[in-house]
Amino acid sequence: MENSAFEMHENVLPSTPSSGKVNISTGLEKKSQWSLMRIFLVCLLACIITTLIGVLILSLVYASTYRPYANIKPEAHRTPETPTDPKSENPVDFKFQFLNRLHKSKVFEFPGGAIQWARYRNNLKDYLSVEEEAFGTSLNRQRSHMTFGTLRIKSNGLRAPHWHFNANEHGYLAQGTAWIGVVDDGGSVVTTYNVTAGQVIFFPKNILHWIKNVGTEDCLFLLFFTTHEELQTLDVDDVFFSTPEDIAARSLKPQGGVNFIRTFQKQEEDQAVNLPPNLAELVTKASYLQSPDSLVWRYFYDLKGSKEFRFPGGIIQWARYRKNGDGLNVNEKIFSESLNQHENSLTLGTLRIYTNGLRQPHFHFNANEMGYVISGCGKVGIISTQGTTDFNIGIGDVVFFPIGTQHYIKSTCDEDLLFILAFTTGNQLQTLDLDDYIHATADHILAQLFFKKQSEFKKIPKFTEDQAINLP
Ligand SMILES: *[C@@H]1O[C@H](CO)[C@@H](O)[C@H](O)[C@H]1NC(C)=O
Repeated sequence: MENSAFEMHENVLPSTPSSGKVNISTGLEKKSQWSLMRIFLVCLLACIITTLIGVLILSLVYASTYRPYANIKPEAHRTPETPTDPKSENPVDFKFQFLNRLHKSKVFEFPGGAIQWARYRNNLKDYLSVEEEAFGTSLNRQRSHMTFGTLRIKSNGLRAPHWHFNANEHGYLAQGTAWIGVVDDGGSVVTTYNVTAGQVIFFPKNILHWIKNVGTEDCLFLLFFTTHEELQTLDVDDVFFSTPEDIAARSLKPQGGVNFIRTFQKQEEDQAVNLPPNLAELVTKASYLQSPDSLVWRYFYDLKGSKEFRFPGGIIQWARYRKNGDGLNVNEKIFSESLNQHENSLTLGTLRIYTNGLRQPHFHFNANEMGYVISGCGKVGIISTQGTTDFNIGIGDVVFFPIGTQHYIKSTCDEDLLFILAFTTGNQLQTLDLDDYIHATADHILAQLFFKKQSEFKKIPKFTEDQAINLP
C-alpha cells in the first residue's frame, strides 16, 4: 500500500516541469490561441493531481486501520460482554489479561472426545476474539510458563500415546475414571495406573504417555502445561504414518515385512482422541495393570485424599513439594521429590470457598498462578497501585495472576466455589496475606503511615485461626 502510493507520487512530480517546458517553447508564436489551451492544460493537471492526492490519502487511512483478523472474527465476539461496564468503551477490557472464558472458546472435536484451550498463539488469526488474544498475549508477555486446556474423553476413548517437547503437563481429573500409561527410561520402564475424579497426574516433558477412559461416563481432565509458547506435541500414530514404509519395516521387523506395514491405514480424521466404531471387534482382551506405588506416585497424586487445610471460609488441598517431606506420607513423598527433581514443574491445589467466603488479598513471591472454576461462582479482584479491577467468574472460566499480583476471590452463590489452581514452582510456594502483613507491621509505623492514632490499630483483631479464607 505505502509503496504503491510512493510510486504514484514519483509519477506526478516529473509531469509538472515537463508540461511547463511545452508551454514556454510554443507560447512565442500563437499567444492568444495557446492561452486557452494553457488554461485547459493547467485545469487538467490540477484535476489529475487532486485525484491522485485523494487516492493517496484514502489508501493511507485504510492501511492504518485495517486489521486482518478483525474480519474473520464471528460477530458474537465483537459485542462487549457487559454493555453496562463503563470500561467497555475500550476495545478490550483490561480484565481479559487475567480472565479467559474458556467455555466459549473453540471446541476441537475428535472421534473420541474434545479439547479446548486458554493459551498463547503465534498467529493472531488463531484467536477467536480480541479477549482471547488479550489473555494469550498476557501469558506470553509475563513469561508465565502457563498454558491451560480441557480434555474430554468419551467412554472407551483414548488420548493417543504422545509427548510434549516443550512442557511438563499437570492434570486434574474432574470427572470419570481413566487408565494411564507412562513410558520412560528409553522404554525400559512402563508405569500404568488408574486415576479417578479428584486425583492428579504429572507427565514430565518428553515422556510418552496415554490416557484411556475405562469408565462409563466422560472423563474431564483439566490440564496445565508449563509453556507460554505454543505447545509442541507429537502423537505416535502421526509420526508412524510419516515414517517411510521400508524404514518402519526394517525397524520393527514384522512378519510379512514391508507388506505388513502397508496394511496400516491412516484415518481421515485426526485421531488425537480416538474411538473406533468397531472397537469391540478390534480389542478382544484388555488388561489394566497397576504398577507398584514406588513407580506410580512419581506421576500420580491423590489430591482428594490428601490432608485438608481448613479455614473458617473454606478448604485448601495441595499436590506440592515439601522440604524433607514434611507432613507427607511415604507415597506423597515420592510425588513431592518427583516434582522437585523436574525443572519448571507446578504446584497444584484445590481451593474450596464456602458461600460468602473470601480468600483474602494476598500475593505469591515465587510463582505465577492459574486457576479454573470447576463449580460455583464468585468475584475476583486484582489490586494494583492504580486501583482494583474486579470481575465475575463462573464454571469454565480461567484466571491468571502474574507473579507478585495481589488478588482476592469471593464466593458469591449458594454452592461452594471450587477451583483447581496451578503455581509455577516445584519448590515451596511463598505467599503473603493482607492481614498477616498488616499485623506484622509495628502499630506506630502504621500510625505514622496512615495519619491515624496508634491506639486505633487495636481495633484490628488477631485470630488464633488462620484467616486465609474467612467468613464475615
Ligand atoms: C483400574 O480400572 C479398571 C477398569 O475399571 C479395573 O478393571 C481395574 O481393576 C482397576 N485397577 C485398580 C488397581 O483399581
